[in-house]
Amino acid sequence: MAEKTLIIYKPDAVRRNLIGEITALFQDRGMKMVAAKLGWYPSEFWEEFYAEHKGKDFFERLVNYMSSGPIFITVWSGDNAIAIARQMAGATDPLEAAPGSIRGRYGLCMPMNTVHCSDSIEAAEREIALFFKDDEIFEW
Ligand code: CMP
Repeated sequence: MAEKTLIIYKPDAVRRNLIGEITALFQDRGMKMVAAKLGWYPSEFWEEFYAEHKGKDFFERLVNYMSSGPIFITVWSGDNAIAIARQMAGATDPLEAAPGSIRGRYGLCMPMNTVHCSDSIEAAEREIALFFKDDEIFEW
C-alpha cells in the first residue's frame, strides 16, 4: 500500500482562498488526495495535537492561531508521500523556506506557515486517525 500523509491547510491558507492553488501543487507532483474535509477545532484540540511543543514560548500563539478559523484537512497517498509533502512545504519558518516552496511562496510568518505536513510514518498514522475514520479514506 502507498504511503499516506496528513496535510493541513492552516487558517491563513483557507482565509486567503489558497485551497485550490495548494491542492494543484501537490496533484501536479503526482500525489493523490484520498480524504478531505473542512473543519474548525478549538484550542483544547490543538493543545493535544501539538503536545510536543507544550512549554515552548510560541505554544499559546500556535494554539490560538490554529483555532482562529477553519482549516482544510487532507490525506494524500503516494510513494514517499511524507518526504515529498515536506519537501514541497519547505522549511518551517517562511523566512527560511526556499522561494519555490509552499511556505516560501505563501507563508506569512511564524506560526502562520500555511501548511502542516506529518513528519514520519508514526506521526502520519496518529494524526490521520485524529481527523478521519478508516471508511472516510478512499483508495482509488
Ligand atoms: P508545523 O509544521 O505545524 O509544526 C509546529 C508548528 O509550530 C509550526 O508548523 C509553526 O506553525 C509553529 N512554530 C514552530 N516554531 C515556531 C516559532 N519559533 N515561533 C512561532 N511558531 C512556531
